[in-house]
Amino acid sequence: MVKQAIIPLAGLGTRLLPLSSVIPKELLPINGKPNLEYIMDECIQAGIKQFILVVPKNRPSIKKYFFNDNFYKKIIKKKKNDKRLREVFKRIKRYQKMIKFVYQNKPEGTGHAVLQCKKYLKGTHFLMLLADDLIVKKNCSKEMIALHKRTKGSVIATKRVERKTVSRWGILGFKNKTRNSFLINEVIEKPKLSEAPSNYAIIGRYILPKKIFSVLKNQGRGKGGEIHITDAIKSLVKRNEKFYGNIFKGKYIDCGTLEGFINSGTTISKYL
Ligand code: G1P
Repeated sequence: MVKQAIIPLAGLGTRLLPLSSVIPKELLPINGKPNLEYIMDECIQAGIKQFILVVPKNRPSIKKYFFNDNFYKKIIKKKKNDKRLREVFKRIKRYQKMIKFVYQNKPEGTGHAVLQCKKYLKGTHFLMLLADDLIVKKNCSKEMIALHKRTKGSVIATKRVERKTVSRWGILGFKNKTRNSFLINEVIEKPKLSEAPSNYAIIGRYILPKKIFSVLKNQGRGKGGEIHITDAIKSLVKRNEKFYGNIFKGKYIDCGTLEGFINSGTTISKYL
């Protein structure tokens, strides 16, 4: 059973400056709701019971967003008849009960972020999501959990991208492809077009096995000096660990770039 989700939130958000200079990019609102809440709602609907949010200690705003009870209680006391206010507080409390914070003080990569969560993970597999990648219309985490239940393997969300953009993504090689999935036999982080085994890209949703920790612990730094989850997955795939690509049915919105973020409001409003 996949019941826990790790969300790394220690990135600098450079591509979204100046918007992300004061507000962490995951709290920037899209149609009146922070990016992060869309991701968490997708997880809750898919049956996730606990979130492990990986944040830097010197950026308290994410913690404050979810843990600000006194602030809400004071206003609610003053505005006793404000129904919306009470609903908002209830919503925040619901998330609050499910959150555990773990610290990563420098953005040292997704693999490094996951490594910080080791002692809190309980089951054989866990979900990891990148908050930049919104998927709307169809619940991708739900599809992935169903594929995991069926195959008992690990799962990565994937989508076909334009060939000329392969160097922007983690790219998958595969066999036994059906309409909605395939068995992964190669993983390369941001390859040159000539090295890319396909044009199926990794999108930020992963169901990972707990045994990935033994790989991460001994893994050197990869591209950009970071510890990438992609490199750990690559090692596991080489050892014949079963990883499946879930060709998700929903609509992908890239919120990690300014252009994507600007368009996200209009795109999301079509599907709400
Ligand atoms: C990360 C991953 C990459 C994946 C991408 C999806 O890259 O490392 O494998 O394809 O997310 O958004 P980043 O966007 O952090 O450069």
